[in-house]
Order: sequence, then structure tokens, then C-alpha cells
Amino acid sequence: MAVMGEEFAVYGRKVDLKPWLEREKLELSTLNRVFSKIQLEGLRVLDAGTGMGYSAKYLAQRIGSGVLVTVDIDPGSLDMLRKLAGVELIDKLIFIKADLRNLDFVKADYFDLVCLYYTIHTIESTTPGGVKRVLEEMHRVLKPGGLLVAVENYATFEPIDDAHRLLLKFSLIEKEINSILAVASDIEYDPEELCSLLEDSGFHILNYKDVGQGCIDPTLL
Ligand SMILES: C[S@@+](CC[C@H](N)C(=O)[O-])C[C@H]1O[C@@H](n2cnc3c(N)ncnc32)[C@H](O)[C@@H]1O
Repeated sequence: MAVMGEEFAVYGRKVDLKPWLEREKLELSTLNRVFSKIQLEGLRVLDAGTGMGYSAKYLAQRIGSGVLVTVDIDPGSLDMLRKLAGVELIDKLIFIKADLRNLDFVKADYFDLVCLYYTIHTIESTTPGGVKRVLEEMHRVLKPGGLLVAVENYATFEPIDDAHRLLLKFSLIEKEINSILAVASDIEYDPEELCSLLEDSGFHILNYKDVGQGCIDPTLL
């Protein structure tokens, strides 16, 4: 496991590791609420959008003899995941650098569960125009009756500390600059909008709910 006070790179920027480990507690409570009623043991799971690796780590600890594949277009996320997961867990998961719009190395109907944990809102800024294609691809790789779990951002939230507050400020400035320059940026979907996007991509909505208005971080990179 990583040492506190150590630095590591988040999307190429050197940052102190400690707050990111602290933040894991916040993520863990959300992940627990989302997955509390889902039996993960033995499943073939796709964690779509590795990012920092919070969801990958969480799932790796709970699949038992199952398979966990985590995919990100950014190879840098493997380093973040390594830091977070540590040596014991990293052996339990498979990281693949790939574009979620096209996972042609995965056969159809392969996964029991696909997890999009704070990934959907980043697809447009990462791969413009890609949301529909990603959702359709998730539908293809999920077996019939399989489960897609999507967790997204909220328009408001409470920063946990000053650094967090600053990060939010910067992200809002970045958003403004992007809109002036007409650069694609993250898109926040409200639940109804997301449900219709999912339905358009072939999914049947079992249920959705607000899992923590005010405590979810829209600046999650
Ligand atoms: C906010 S992060 C996900 C957080 C992550 N699940 C966690 O628990 O830390 C979103 C990730 O999705 C990835 N991403 C966005 N669009 C993608 C695409 N088309 N293909 C692959 N990865 C993509 C981004 O590179 C980013 O790392």
C-alpha cells in the first residue's frame, strides 16, 4: 500500500496522495449504498472508466472468484489504480487501455455487470459525441439480464475542505473557458435525461435514485 504524504500523478499532475486516500472514504460510502443489495461474488464485472480506481478497488474486493476488467482510454489511470489498490488487489483485476466506444476484443453477452461510476459525464469531453456509442457498447458486452450500474454527478455538493473548494472553483473556470473556446466539456445529466439515454441504447430501467444530493463531487477528474 502507498505511503501517506507521498506524491503521485493524477492525469499527469503531481499531487499529494493523502487527500485522495481520504477521499476514498467518501467514495466508499457511496459505493456501499449503491451496491449494498447487489450480490457481486463470482460475477464477471466491467468497471468502465477506471479513473482514480475507487470503483475498481471496491469491486475487486467483492467479486471473490469472479473476473474484474477495468477499462480506461487514459493509460495514466493504471498508475493511480496501482497506488490505490496496492499490490495485493492489483493482481485481482485486469486493466485494459481502450476506448469504451469500441470494445471489440470483448465478445457479446460476456459481462454480468457493468459499472459506470462517475464515467458517463466525462465521455463527451474525452471522446466527443461518444455517449450513445459507449452505452450501446455496454449493452452489447452485457449478457441478457445483466446489470448496468451507473452513478453520476449532481449539480450541487458540499466541498469537504479548502482544497476541494479550490478544485471546484478551478473546474468552474475551466468550464467557462471551454464554453468560450467551444471545447467539449463534461456534461451533467439529470436522472430523467440519463434514463432516456439508457433506454435509447437498449436498456430497461429497473430503478434509479438520488443517492446523496449535496455530497457528491462534480470535480471528480
Ligand atoms: C471520473 S473517471 C471515473 C472514476 C472511476 N470510476 C473511479 O472510481 O475513480 C472517468 C474516466 O472515464 C474515462 N473515459 C471517459 N470516456 C472514455 C472513453 N470513451 N473510453 C475510455 N475511457 C473513458 C476517463 O479517461 C476517466 O478516467
